[in-house]
Amino acid sequence: MNRIVAAVVAGIVCLIIVSAFSGKNGWQAPREAESRKNPLANDPKAAKAGAVLYKQYCEICHGSKGKGDGTAESGLQTPLNSLASETTQKNADGTVFWKISTGHAQMPAYKSLLTDQQIWQLVNFVKTLGKKI
Ligand code: HEC
Repeated sequence: MNRIVAAVVAGIVCLIIVSAFSGKNGWQAPREAESRKNPLANDPKAAKAGAVLYKQYCEICHGSKGKGDGTAESGLQTPLNSLASETTQKNADGTVFWKISTGHAQMPAYKSLLTDQQIWQLVNFVKTLGKKI
């Protein structure tokens, strides 16, 4: 009897761990991140500044158009999704901000390297990648 209880508990613990790490659509940001307002939402110059930063920091992995074909991509353990894809583009600005700030697995965290303003500029640039397709 005790063994059955232990097996059930172990099963539940495994499920919790697996769901915490995988999430339904891969990398999930916390809910609060989603509602964070983009202070540069109406700034047409922000995406241009973001493009310059993107070239410097992101292109090496994500590729010039965000397709996941940067020069360092082959060294990554997981294949990169296109930043122009619906999966990325349907993320709220606040979510993209959180992801760039926090990083995940081989995606570096940029919050100590870049200012909030620079990260929002990158968010605006990432959002333009979806529009070009
Ligand atoms: C060393 C390679 C590398 C660099 C440099 C890099 N990324 Fe990433 N990026 C990744 C990887 C790997 C993932 C996928 C992480 C995961 O899902 O675990 C990712 C995921 C993302 C995502 C989330 C996509 C989604 O749909 O969830 C965004 C947004 C992103 N990167 C933007 C950027 C920006 C902007 C920069 C530059 C400031 C950057 N990345 C630099 C490797 C990189």
